[in-house]
Amino acid sequence: MSHRPWPLRRRLVVLVALLAATVIASSAVASTLGLRQTLIGQLDGQLVLVAGRASDEGRDRPREPSDDLPVVGGRSPLDFPGQRTGTLTYQVVGDVVIAGVIREDFVVSSLTDEQVAVLADVPRDGRPRTVDLPGLGEYRVIATEQPDALRVSGLALTEVNETLAAYVARQALVGLAGIAVIALLGTWLIRRELRPLQAVAAAATSVANTPLDRGAVTLPVRVEDANPATEVGQVGAALNTLLGHVETSLEARHRSEQQVRQFVADASHELRTPLASIAGYTELIQSGQVSGDEATHALTRIAQESSRMGLLVEDLLLLARLDAGRPLATAPVDLTAVAADAVTDAHAAAPHHHWRLDLPLDADGEVDLTGTVVTGDEDRLRQVLGNLLTNARVHTPAGTTVVVTVRATDREAIVTVEDDGPGIPPELRVFDRFARGDSSRQRASGSTGLGLAIARAVVEAHGGTIELASRPGATRVSVRLPRADALTVSRRCPGPSPARP
Ligand SMILES: Nc1ncnc2c1ncn2[C@@H]1O[C@H](COP(=O)(O)OP(=O)(O)OP(=O)(O)O)[C@@H](O)[C@H]1O
Ligand SMILES: [Mg+2]
Repeated sequence: MSHRPWPLRRRLVVLVALLAATVIASSAVASTLGLRQTLIGQLDGQLVLVAGRASDEGRDRPREPSDDLPVVGGRSPLDFPGQRTGTLTYQVVGDVVIAGVIREDFVVSSLTDEQVAVLADVPRDGRPRTVDLPGLGEYRVIATEQPDALRVSGLALTEVNETLAAYVARQALVGLAGIAVIALLGTWLIRRELRPLQAVAAAATSVANTPLDRGAVTLPVRVEDANPATEVGQVGAALNTLLGHVETSLEARHRSEQQVRQFVADASHELRTPLASIAGYTELIQSGQVSGDEATHALTRIAQESSRMGLLVEDLLLLARLDAGRPLATAPVDLTAVAADAVTDAHAAAPHHHWRLDLPLDADGEVDLTGTVVTGDEDRLRQVLGNLLTNARVHTPAGTTVVVTVRATDREAIVTVEDDGPGIPPELRVFDRFARGDSSRQRASGSTGLGLAIARAVVEAHGGTIELASRPGATRVSVRLPRADALTVSRRCPGPSPARP
């Protein structure tokens, strides 16, 4: 048969009650023993007096015969006035034997042979002893032997025993009441102190019953009154913290799941458009209905769309690689050169924009290259600047001025790309994947909304930050990267990086 273990509360109460019972019982035993010793000591004092009276004192007193007991020294040793009940004497003086006891009703009665036999055996050293007399009960006796006589005097222990019994009974009663009070008080106190534990158990059970494996999970359960000043409260507070962490991680997991789902959906959607074009033009050519220039145009469109698909797939792969935390190449990269090349390319691509390059100059008016060298993957950093300048080119009208500034601080190299174009609507989360403005969406050139997402992923993989501030007439993107000569940020380990074609 399996026993259900007792709950902690009951076990604690029983333990406390047992402990209290042990303490109370020990103190009762000790005080009873002490009291017994005191009472017997007092009785012994009286016994010594009684023994004295029974021997010497009697000789000086006038004889007052009062009973039929033989008389020694003029009168019976039991016959002194003031002798208490329960006083016993057994004397053998010569041939005369006195053996009597004053009973409860003050009548002196003779001792029986068995009682006398017990008294005759008491060691005769004058020291008080306890004997059990048949028919009379316990007595404290003193026996002395003199040349002419054997004298044994005794006093009944009845009163002492009665007092002790009453004392023990009272102790037991008080002790039991004390234990009951302690048990009741303990139950109340322990129940009160452990209440938060029940709350912890309830919260944990409720969480255990919540399915956490998928979807959006909220854990509204928390342990209330978790007072960190108490141990039980600390358990509650720790559970609350744990639940908080679990909730945050579950939220993060759900968010990332949704992002991945959204990303896959967006990527598929983006790939479907060029695929549909390619399929359409292929069918057109296969049908044999087009020839000459039309067929050439169809083939050109197929080539354009495939290359657009290729670029898109490259971008997606790059993002996936950066997401997976794959290592980037690490080589010194001079941001001044990268920025200068990017501006030259942009100028060639959009001659009707005004392109300006603002580089740091030293005291002699020469370009100062100190501090603009970073460690990283040159191709990827070129791609970042390319994306920023492409944005400044394609999302702004002709005549827009674009200024690319390179600067260095103590720890960072900073490149900013600033244009005075129309700006970005504030509600557009431009760093999100596939985030595009309406005008970009309508553009036939096929903007995918990955440019800034890639820029951010690359910059962050280099331990840097990217920020955007935009209002109509002023859009500025700042890229901050740790300087190669002040590199303190922990970076990914070096490794080969497949360059974008
Ligand atoms: N300098 C800018 N001026 C105005 N709008 C901008 C500028 N830069 C970005 N944007 C807006 O931010 C959106 C997101 O830019 P992002 O570079 O991420 O994607 P994209 O340029 O649309 O596509 P992709 O760069 O992948 O070809 C753009 O669609 C555009 O609406
Ligand atoms: Mg772009």
